[in-house]
Amino acid sequence: MSLQTPFTEMLSVTHPIVLAPMGSQSGGALAAAVSNAGGLGLVGGGPGLDRGRLAREVGLVTERTTRPWGIGFITWIVKEEVVAWALEQGPAAVMLSFGDPGKLASRIRRAGTTLIIQVTSLDEARQAIDAGADVIVAQGSEAGGHGGRRGTLPFVPAVVDLVGPVPVLAAGGIADGRGLAAALVLGASGALIGTRFVASSESLASPAVAKALVEGHGEETESSRIHDIAAGVPWPRQYPGRSIKNVFGDRWRGREEELAASPEALQSYREAVAAGDPHAVPVWAGEDIDLIHDIEPAAAIVETLASDAERALAQAARPG
Ligand SMILES: Cc1cc2nc3c(=O)[nH]c(=O)nc-3n(C[C@H](O)[C@H](O)[C@H](O)COP(=O)(O)O)c2cc1C
Repeated sequence: MSLQTPFTEMLSVTHPIVLAPMGSQSGGALAAAVSNAGGLGLVGGGPGLDRGRLAREVGLVTERTTRPWGIGFITWIVKEEVVAWALEQGPAAVMLSFGDPGKLASRIRRAGTTLIIQVTSLDEARQAIDAGADVIVAQGSEAGGHGGRRGTLPFVPAVVDLVGPVPVLAAGGIADGRGLAAALVLGASGALIGTRFVASSESLASPAVAKALVEGHGEETESSRIHDIAAGVPWPRQYPGRSIKNVFGDRWRGREEELAASPEALQSYREAVAAGDPHAVPVWAGEDIDLIHDIEPAAAIVETLASDAERALAQAARPG
């Protein structure tokens, strides 16, 4: 049995597994490794990546794979000329997350590139369909990094019902074959996975971040706006970010307005982050970190996800 879905057929990939375009972690080496293993690797296009670094990561992915690959951008922050440049580099797909896809979506569609839009609510799913999305990612709030407030389990089938026959990928809290199998049973055509791939040999994460993921537990993560407020990044209010709790977050939990109004606190946060202080720097992580036990090559993660999902589906179908 192999896990063929409308998504694998549309993108000509072997497995219904997509590397999330994580700005700080999904570089060209990781995206190429996932694509070479039969999934779809998406390079993270931001925030915080300057044009030079993005060009380097895209150069790496094009050098290392001849399979389909893609790139993902944060809609509310990315500049249109960066998307235009990316389209010239030959991605099979471009993904947009967080914000009105409007103008960017039509540009991507005009280029004939597969348009993937990540959504966190049913209203956003409707907007994605209106924008002409070829694939929709339904992201639940278990996800690492920024996201909305819906749980993956009920949200994915609701999006499937709303947008069918457009293929849906499930995202948020999926780190092993059981999660991928569950996504397929919910009617998704695959899974978009972030946190699990941060703990891979090819990720751009520091050893300290990878160690925190391997040692951490889902209960220790929280969704919050504290780090974005402190960093001065004006994320829209509806997209808090999930990270592993730390000392800075503990200090300011419930006091976000006070934090925003304190120049001293903001200054000391930025100094601590610049110095790499682990009590301040957020480790973005999903609730699925309980399921991450090793730092492995991305190809092994893809193969294990696919074969364990096949096994989980076969087991679930066995009578008795
Ligand atoms: C470290 C990290 C960085 C992320 N950065 C981005 C990003 O730049 N753009 C984006 O669309 N999504 C980003 N995400 C969210 C992912 O697209 C995806 O929804 C999420 O990783 C899925 O949940 P999971 O982490 O439990 O697999 C990020 C997630 C993580 C963990």
